[in-house]
Amino acid sequence: MSSLSFEPMSALMGVRAHGIDLRQPITAGDAQALRDSFARAHVLCVPNQDISNDDQIRFAQVFGQANTLFIGAPRKADEPSEDGPEKRGIIYISNVRENGQAIGALPDGELHFHSDGAHRKSPYRATTLYAIAIPSHGGETRFSDLQAAFDALTPAMQARIETLRVRNVYDTRATLRTQTNEYDDNLSTAEHPLVRVHPDTGRKSLYLSQLMTRNIVGLERAASEDLLAQLFEVIERPEFIYDHKWSLGDLLIWDNRCLNHARSDFPSDQKRHMRRVTVSEPDFTPA
Ligand code: SIN
Repeated sequence: MSSLSFEPMSALMGVRAHGIDLRQPITAGDAQALRDSFARAHVLCVPNQDISNDDQIRFAQVFGQANTLFIGAPRKADEPSEDGPEKRGIIYISNVRENGQAIGALPDGELHFHSDGAHRKSPYRATTLYAIAIPSHGGETRFSDLQAAFDALTPAMQARIETLRVRNVYDTRATLRTQTNEYDDNLSTAEHPLVRVHPDTGRKSLYLSQLMTRNIVGLERAASEDLLAQLFEVIERPEFIYDHKWSLGDLLIWDNRCLNHARSDFPSDQKRHMRRVTVSEPDFTPA
């Protein structure tokens, strides 16, 4: 008999799962219940966990193909883009330094809204993030509901953007929009539809972000900038955002197909150390 139960985290999105210890194998029944809740809520939090890499990978596998290659260390400034060959796997999102070297894959501090892997041909379906050390305040992960944002557009705007495509560019050293040189050939880049249909719910969502989306394909630059500005305003409206305040031992999974996420700033003299394992689409074969 399963002791798994669920509680909503906010009116907008998110559900918290209680009564499961992820150090233990996950039964088929619990796996299905976790998937169902995730499909409804798009963010699933399993609190109070004390888990290893392998436990986190096993959890990620409930939702698709977990990326298990250990990457760990960040890319150096003069190294080529991580996309050639396309590496995916376990990384730390961390401000910890060991022997003066960052062990985290991303820079510290505030991070603008984005969807993981939107700069790749095959973006990540979902991301799991596990809180190993957290600051006393700040460092929330912020989620923006791109389905609700699409629904909020006028029918005329929905029709106008329906078939458009966006060009995304990502520099792993950038946390803010202005820090990316979109013309740098070393950066990872991909084009995607601006409007996506969620394969589980059939709902439409916007698919663009401040951090990665540089232009709308085929539009004059001024028209592209104007449309992006209008859409950025909608997707970052407070009513479409849920801020996750972390507790130690929280394991989160979120759906990159219909959510953007960002990180709020946090004190640089306090430790924030998280482990990330992503989930790919099943047809993705790592190089
Ligand atoms: C990420 O964008 O993958 C990291 C989010 C976070 O540090 O909260």
